[in-house]
Amino acid sequence: MTSPDVFEQIAEALYQQGYAVLSHALPEPLCRALAQEVRHLPAEQFSRAGVGRQDDHVKADTIRRDEICWIDNNTAAGREWLRWAGELQQAINRRLFLGLFSFESHYAHYQAGDFYKKHRDAFRGQQNRVLSVVTYLNTDWQPEDGGELLIYPDNGDVPLLRVIPEFGTLVVFLSEEFPHEVLPAQTDRYSIAGWFRINSGNSQRIDPDS
Ligand code: OGA
Ligand code: MN
Repeated sequence: MTSPDVFEQIAEALYQQGYAVLSHALPEPLCRALAQEVRHLPAEQFSRAGVGRQDDHVKADTIRRDEICWIDNNTAAGREWLRWAGELQQAINRRLFLGLFSFESHYAHYQAGDFYKKHRDAFRGQQNRVLSVVTYLNTDWQPEDGGELLIYPDNGDVPLLRVIPEFGTLVVFLSEEFPHEVLPAQTDRYSIAGWFRINSGNSQRIDPDS
């Protein structure tokens, strides 16, 4: 069980500034279980990440180089993570009325040299991803290991924030508002990236995007 204070802190920071960065936001045993799981998943469960909806991996290679594995309820750590994300969703909806409806997330593995160039997770007017969540699974990350997450203001080239991808750090931000990038990692870098969506369905289908 996460203390309601953590969810309250996240909601308050989102309300005030549109993003939140917390160290030790996840319960430590959950974070450890995820860190272990991501390192033991069979390699074939990871695939090169794409960009947008296209599957043009030549183009994608110049934008991002990480490998990803979607998280579902089939593993103990995955289940626990999705349960935690569900609690976060409820707490944020209660506090901020964002109407978060569904959640998807994947593990990401950046090897030495891998990066993710400046991008947005969602585009205005396309009602898709509303809130981005990233958490890190690397103990003892050193400054020379690189791989920082830089978060930029909506229109600007000076980063608002540099986040070190250290074990237990959680970043939450409004998907449309903040361009961001992952600097090249110098060693294996493990993270989870997830997105809450609002329900963009109609009366025929509950959520046609999912
Ligand atoms: C993403 C992303 C950030 C990170 O996967 O869209 O921006 O720090 N990840 O891993
Ligand atoms: Mn992103």
